[in-house]
Amino acid sequence: MSDPAPKPSKPFGTEFSENMATAYFKNGEWSSAEIGPVQNLSLHPASHVLHYGSECFEGMKAYRTMEGGAQIFRLNKHAARMKRSTELLFLPFPGEEFLKKIVCDLVAENRESIPDAPGTLYIRPAIIGTEANIGAAGTGSSEACFFMLTSPVGAYFSGDKALRILIKEDGMRAVPGFGSAKTGGNYAAALKQVIGARTEYQADQVLFCPGGDVQETGASNFMLLNDEELITKPLNDTFLHGVTRDSVLTLAKSLGYRVTERDFHADEIISWIADGGEAALSGTAAVLAGVGTFIRNGKEFYAGGEGGAVGKNTKRIREALTAIQVGDAEDQFGWLTVV
Ligand SMILES: Cc1ncc(COP(=O)(O)O)c(C=O)c1O
Repeated sequence: MSDPAPKPSKPFGTEFSENMATAYFKNGEWSSAEIGPVQNLSLHPASHVLHYGSECFEGMKAYRTMEGGAQIFRLNKHAARMKRSTELLFLPFPGEEFLKKIVCDLVAENRESIPDAPGTLYIRPAIIGTEANIGAAGTGSSEACFFMLTSPVGAYFSGDKALRILIKEDGMRAVPGFGSAKTGGNYAAALKQVIGARTEYQADQVLFCPGGDVQETGASNFMLLNDEELITKPLNDTFLHGVTRDSVLTLAKSLGYRVTERDFHADEIISWIADGGEAALSGTAAVLAGVGTFIRNGKEFYAGGEGGAVGKNTKRIREALTAIQVGDAEDQFGWLTVV
């Protein structure tokens, strides 16, 4: 029997395991990765990232197994997305195999800090441009730092609480062409709208729908579902290609839902829920979170009746996904890396 798992005691993202990983890119090559105690980074004040935002990151999770080991969810897919983000930011990338190995090594090193379900170990690798050159606004950074933290976390949203979402048709989350990069700049650009939605409407999140085109929220993808069908936007470069989105679509198909990837208008959300349909957000942190209330042009619209409730199809798919992640169901799609 393994030691009892720790319980995360601090808010999501503020507690860290003991060790971090670092590697540096200089003179055209990456150093080997090192694992050591979490400590401050040392940066020249002219570092590219501090002025021109050359930064990208990933967010994935490791789950504690019954035996006290760890399994990482969809490591390959996260490594591929990080590569894509570095390409969009003209940052050096150490290679998917390098990244996967150091993720496994760090999770193994920090294994004891993985909480029991519904807690998980959130894994946050990042790459930043460190060339000391304030004249480099128009070039990529020739030097970079890779670093990675792991953070024991509890559930981000309780699965039973239906969310309040503001539908925003003016303004967008990311510049078209850059939405598929997981970069801090996109979150910074959305912040004013996300904070405004919270303070003005007590909304949990904003659903960005420029000109009515339903894209994604500030931190998750979006889908409509009912007993037969699941609808979500097809992949393009205006939004982040969620690993959870991909997993939910695969699972929904295997559970017999018709999965439709097509563009749809914000009007359709309102008619969909009026017909008894459900809406949900998908993401590594959100898992699959049901929406209860939409706010549009100052008016509230409820999914699942007055006040809003999490729908049964949302719960069903969420549970199927979680069962695979924690090892209660067979890993039928080969999504887990055991370390
Ligand atoms: C803007 C945005 N869209 C979508 C997602 C969902 O992506 P994933 O399922 O890979 O976590 C996230 C979460 O990371 C996000 O921040």
